[in-house]
Parts: sequence; C-alpha cells; structure tokens
Amino acid sequence: MPNCNNLSVGIVGTGVYLPETVLTNAELEKTVDTSDEWIRSRSGICERRIINEGEATSDIACRAARMAVQDAGISLQEVDAIVVATVTPDMLFPSTACLVQNGLGLNRVAAFDVGAGCSGFVYAMGIGSQFIKTGMYNTVLVIGAESLSRIINWQDRNTCVLFGDGAGAAVLRPVPEGFGILSLDLGADGSGADLLKLPAGGSRMPVTHENCCSTDHYLNMSGREVFKFAVKIIGESALNALEKAGLDKKDVDCFIPHQANIRIIEAAVRRLNLPMDKVFVNVQKYGNTSAASIPVAVHEAVAEGRIKRGDIVVLVGFGAGLTWGASVIKWAK
Ligand code: UT7
Repeated sequence: MPNCNNLSVGIVGTGVYLPETVLTNAELEKTVDTSDEWIRSRSGICERRIINEGEATSDIACRAARMAVQDAGISLQEVDAIVVATVTPDMLFPSTACLVQNGLGLNRVAAFDVGAGCSGFVYAMGIGSQFIKTGMYNTVLVIGAESLSRIINWQDRNTCVLFGDGAGAAVLRPVPEGFGILSLDLGADGSGADLLKLPAGGSRMPVTHENCCSTDHYLNMSGREVFKFAVKIIGESALNALEKAGLDKKDVDCFIPHQANIRIIEAAVRRLNLPMDKVFVNVQKYGNTSAASIPVAVHEAVAEGRIKRGDIVVLVGFGAGLTWGASVIKWAK
C-alpha cells in the first residue's frame, strides 16, 4: 500500500472578495475621536472595506470560493470538502461552511467551520491538507472570511479603526513531490483567552433583555497585550515551521504575516532579521480582516508576481485564543 502520508499537498488556486464600500480614516474622524495621522502612524491602516447591508460572511465567502475554484481550473463539482475559518459566522449555527456549500450549489460534501481567530486560515489549511494526505479527499476548499464590521463597537476608537471585512479562499490538491505545504506549526495558549474576545451571545453570557445593549456584544481587545504576544510569536512560529521544513530564514522568498498592524509586522520582521522587501503587506488597504487576511494577502502576492513557482512562502497567523499558526510552502502553481 502506498504511503499516503508522503503525498505533497499545495494551493492550486486562490480567490478573494473585498466589498466595494471603502471606509477611510478621514470618514472615521467624523464619527469617533481619532485622526488619520493617529491611525496611520499606530497601525499603518489607511482604509478598510465594509460589507453591504443585507450580506453576511457566507455571501462573501462564496464569491472568494468561486474565484479560487476558477483560478484552480477545476469545476465546483470536484470539491470534496469545505472548511471555513471565521470569527464572524452568519449565526452561531449552522456553520458558515454549510451555508457556503449551499450557496455554491454543492450537495453532500463535508462542510464545517474552524474557530482559531486570525490564525484560522492556517489552521484550516492544515486540516484540509491532512484530509488529502491521508487519501480521504482529493480537493479541499479552504476559506477565511469575516464581517468584522458587524461585531465592532463603532463608538470605541480603540478597536473600530483597526478592522475590516473581506474573504479569501484557496483550493488544496495534491501537487508534485517536494512542492506544496512543507510544514505546519500550530499552537495555542488559552490562558490568553480574555485578551481578545466577543463576550456575549454564547452559553457563558446568553443574550438577555438586560445585556442586549451592553458592549459585551462587541469585539473586546486588550490591544497592548495582543501586540506584545504577536511580535514574539510571529518569529517563534515562523522559525519552528522553517526548522520542521529543514529550511533557514535566508531561504524565504515571500513572508506573509497576518495583517493586523504594520508596527507588529515591522517589529517581528526586525527580530527575525528578514529584509522588509521579502514581506508582503496590504494592511494599509484592508485593515485587520482576521481569518481572511492571510488568504487575501496570498492571492494578491501571487497576482502581483511576488510569488512564483518554486518560491518558499511562509505564512504566519496569530490571534484570538490566543492562537498561532505558521506554514512553509514551496509554491507549486
Ligand atoms: O488580529 C490580532 C488582533 N489585533 C491586533 O493585533 C492588534 C494589536 N494591538 C495593536 O495593534 C495596538 O496595540 C493598537 C493599534 C490597538 C494600539 O496602539 P498602541 O500604540 O498600543 O496604543 P495604546 O493602546 O497604548 O494607546 C495610546 C493612546 C491612548 O491614549 P492615552 O491613554 O495614552 O491618553 C489611547 O486612548 O492612544 C489612544 N488611542 C487613540 N487615539 C486616537 C487609542 N485608539 C485611538 C484612536 N485614535 N483610534
């Protein structure tokens, strides 16, 4: 029997959907006590996208998914499973992945969500790739999609300037030996769960008449603590993933960290001693789109010619949980 666990699995297509509505820093200046200068200098963000009224995460996930499937040159019917990473599901249940499955017109294929905060895409990619390695599936659609504007307190200047909406998708398939996902480093530290959360609406704090107007229904973050964690973990996780792949940081062609804050990215990259020209950054255009940020960045990096066949690409996510996840990929497309 062949050793399926040695099968190489990689990304063979990518897609994105960024809502058309652009919310600039100048517009935010009119609604909260902030300034374009503060937002740019503290986060690097210039603008973010906001999902249309009446749309939800599964809608934008479907658009990104269709584009990824087209980019892979396959038909939707070839998809064997759908994994959606999100912290902003359409509803608590059913999973957003089931809504995406229905939206894509796919019957019967496995569909489920992964909750790993902004590391969600790397986790979901890890799970999807294992299904293929074991021979259970041939084609897995992995999506990171968020409607963070729906869980933001637009009166809280500490958080409302940082986040945006969007979706990114990737098609995973077997690729030639030696290409594809070379390693994964996934981790979590649940002792940091309070640092980034949406407190209400779950079984711990169900919605009541009394709490329905409280800020517990919005994203809640201890920014400084998350910042420190992020700067440290990006380097640690990236180095772990590189070591598992038998590679060194000088082998990296394109480094794609979760796009939360340019200062986090620059500080982490300095610690890693990587040249900034190998680092892909688009946080200025979309803000922090949580689980969507890495697949959107991957898609844009490929589209801009920053990633080519044979390149060593490193993805690193970090976020609520606290969680982190890094992956080293030898680009196969
Ligand atoms: O996806 C993972 C999740 N999120 C993150 O990765 C975010 C991690 N954290 C961060 O990116 C940064 O900590 C922030 C951007 C959130 C904040 O930057 P900071 O340099 O850590 O600022 P700070 O929290 O120390 O606040 C400095 C000051 C405070 O005023 P005082 O107390 O010094 O008078 C804030 O009230 O800046 C004030 N401030 C603002 N001022 C203008 C906070 N938000 C704003 C704002 N506009 N939007």
